[in-house]
Amino acid sequence: MGKLVICDHPLIQHKLTFIRDMRTNTKDFRELVDEVATLMAYEITRSIPLESISVQTPVAETEGKVISGRMLGLIPILRAGLGMLDGVVKLLPAAKVGHVGLFRDPETLQPVEYYTKLPTDVTERELIVIDPMLATGGSAIAAIDVLKKRGCTQIKMMNLVAAPEGVKAVQEAHPDVDIYVAALDKGLDDHGYIIPGLGDAGDRLYGTK
Ligand code: PRP
Ligand code: URA
Repeated sequence: MGKLVICDHPLIQHKLTFIRDMRTNTKDFRELVDEVATLMAYEITRSIPLESISVQTPVAETEGKVISGRMLGLIPILRAGLGMLDGVVKLLPAAKVGHVGLFRDPETLQPVEYYTKLPTDVTERELIVIDPMLATGGSAIAAIDVLKKRGCTQIKMMNLVAAPEGVKAVQEAHPDVDIYVAALDKGLDDHGYIIPGLGDAGDRLYGTK
């Protein structure tokens, strides 16, 4: 079973409160989501492997640590995932980015795939799937399905807010995927919105309604 990690750093929790607040305007919402994404990237990369190399300082030769192992790939789920992408790229500038376009049919709540473009070496990378919202889990499961069909094996998921239903669904469908969230909320309403959540992440990021 994949683990669920709640990124409960005080800065993340503080900023998330203002992200949730319906009075927060589009500009501030976007900036806060970007900032929380950077802080979450710090948490999600905590366990990436290091190796020792020798380095010559102006004074002496010593050993230093550098990141080893697989290169990283970031997979924002369009469109709301884009709101977190730049915040993650700030910490991981060498990561390549693949896009998976999915929207949730408002009637059936089933994900509809409309676009996929992945780096050519995606199977050699450790991937982080990025989406602010994990509600029923349908979109996350579909995005991970797309990646696995291409042969990807090392995948993590990163969400701002998750519902227990979505976490359970992803853990059942993809038990090898660890999920990192800023908050685990109460549940879903009759329209599949997370309670208390933050509303429609895409609409709040882009000012659409
Ligand atoms: C939202 C959100 C997730 C999905 C979560 O996207 O960004 O992708 O819903 O719901 P689920 O877990 O029930 O699948 P939406 O379909 O609103 O598309 P958008 O990003 O284009 O706004
Ligand atoms: N998608 C969103 O943007 N918000 C929710 O609460 C659920 C799905």
